[in-house]
Amino acid sequence: MSYALAFSATDAAELWAEAGAAAEALVAGEPDGIANMANISALIWQAIPDLNWAGFYRFDGTELVLGPFQGKAACIRIPLDKGVCGAAARLRATQRVEDVHAFPGHIACDADSRSELVVPVVVGDRLVGVLDLDSPRPSRFTADDQTGAESLVARIAAALAGQN
Ligand code: SME
Repeated sequence: MSYALAFSATDAAELWAEAGAAAEALVAGEPDGIANMANISALIWQAIPDLNWAGFYRFDGTELVLGPFQGKAACIRIPLDKGVCGAAARLRATQRVEDVHAFPGHIACDADSRSELVVPVVVGDRLVGVLDLDSPRPSRFTADDQTGAESLVARIAAALAGQN
């Protein structure tokens, strides 16, 4: 496959659809979950505007551990009762936070972050980790971004889990 990815949509839903299709092609046939997380964080970083952090935390059976990402160096371990990422993992539900300063327990890894979208990665009943997107813009993430990110994750969850 070609690694020269290009994204042309301007509408968020279409952009996520393009990103989701590219993501599926990128992980096709690759069983290494970390390699897939690395490429998908790069793909999202390239495709989705106004992000200051994009990447994964992996669930080690106890807590979340930093995985492949784009952006500044970040906190390494996040207990499930802490932060936006912990909430997404614990509740197995996407957290879309308009203003991170108003979220109780938000962990400020990058002081530039103002809004955040965290999607749990679940395969069957196994929690694999979370996809975490941060933006320096308040209320950056819309319902379309949430739906788009959730469907991208759903399309490639097995590949992220190393079960491709
Ligand atoms: N803000 C996240 C921590 C991870 S960093 O943003 C990369 C949280 O509150 O869980």
